[in-house]
Amino acid sequence: MSERILLLHPGAMGSSIGASLRGNGHAVAWVREGRSAASAERARGAGLQPVATLREALAGIDHVISVCPPDAALAVAHQVTTAGFAGTYLDANAVSPASAREMHALLGDAFVDGGIVGPPAWKAGTTRLYLSAPKAAEVTRWFEGSATDARAIAGGAGAASALKMAYAAFTKGSAALLLAIRALAEREGVTAPLLEEWDLSQPGLARRSELTARGTSGKAWRFEGEMREIAATFQAAGLPGGFHEAAAEVYRRMRDLKDVEGGADLESVLEALLRDARHFV
Ligand SMILES: NC(=O)c1ccc[n+]([C@@H]2O[C@H](COP(=O)([O-])OP(=O)(O)OC[C@H]3O[C@@H](n4cnc5c(N)ncnc54)[C@H](OP(=O)(O)O)[C@@H]3O)[C@@H](O)[C@H]2O)c1
Repeated sequence: MSERILLLHPGAMGSSIGASLRGNGHAVAWVREGRSAASAERARGAGLQPVATLREALAGIDHVISVCPPDAALAVAHQVTTAGFAGTYLDANAVSPASAREMHALLGDAFVDGGIVGPPAWKAGTTRLYLSAPKAAEVTRWFEGSATDARAIAGGAGAASALKMAYAAFTKGSAALLLAIRALAEREGVTAPLLEEWDLSQPGLARRSELTARGTSGKAWRFEGEMREIAATFQAAGLPGGFHEAAAEVYRRMRDLKDVEGGADLESVLEALLRDARHFV
């Protein structure tokens, strides 16, 4: 059955999720208001239907999927409920289980919690969309056979977000730690002997730190908010949140590298990390 879905918004990930739905024959709209030319271009490439305003879009659809920067997720959910929407609402953002439960309280059983693991879903086998809520199984059917591998998990609203937080705590948290270590060695003048020692006892780590700089620099502006959601998740579970508060600070210092073509190199990342090191507390 063809569903009418509104995708908020067509970023790198959102446009690929929209393309999966389009490939399955669903009608997918997006809202032009407030979005950049880059989002419009991605939406066009994914075959999504432009609509001028949120109100206009909500009048013609059955379901909403939110894929946006994590620190905007609650605001987007509020905009949609304020406009009187009562259909299925899937939040697929990297937010804490507490934020997901806040959205559940706002939207009731129409809410589906989601968490995405993997790169934008352009190829089968790369990207999982974890879902938890009474309606999770229904949502998995929208994606059947597409590049977005949608999987329902037990635990209700908050479970899919908790899984995403636990996953990204390691991937993005360890990436921030590795870059901070390279910056520390640089500041202390021990880069060369550290790299020699890594070659002896941690083979591959030097190369990994270079790839990490390139891979994270364009997205660091968005990772800062995600790290704070992870820190809050640890704290709410009675565990130390400091690891990811520090990771948030690492990514905050990298936020100006957003538009470097092809990603910034390690040298530029270290410069950004050390630039305001004096202000660090
Ligand atoms: N990219 C990945 O590899 C990946 C992997 C796993 C999970 N995710 C999750 O997917 C979500 C989005 O990631 P993405 O890669 O698609 O990000 P993105 O490429 O940066 O796109 C974000 C989208 O949200 C819009 N946006 C920007 N600021 C906003 C705001 N304040 N309020 C509402 N919308 C706003 C952007 O529009 P304009 O820029 O046009 O204003 C754009 O359309 C995040 O929750 C992320 O954790 C992404």
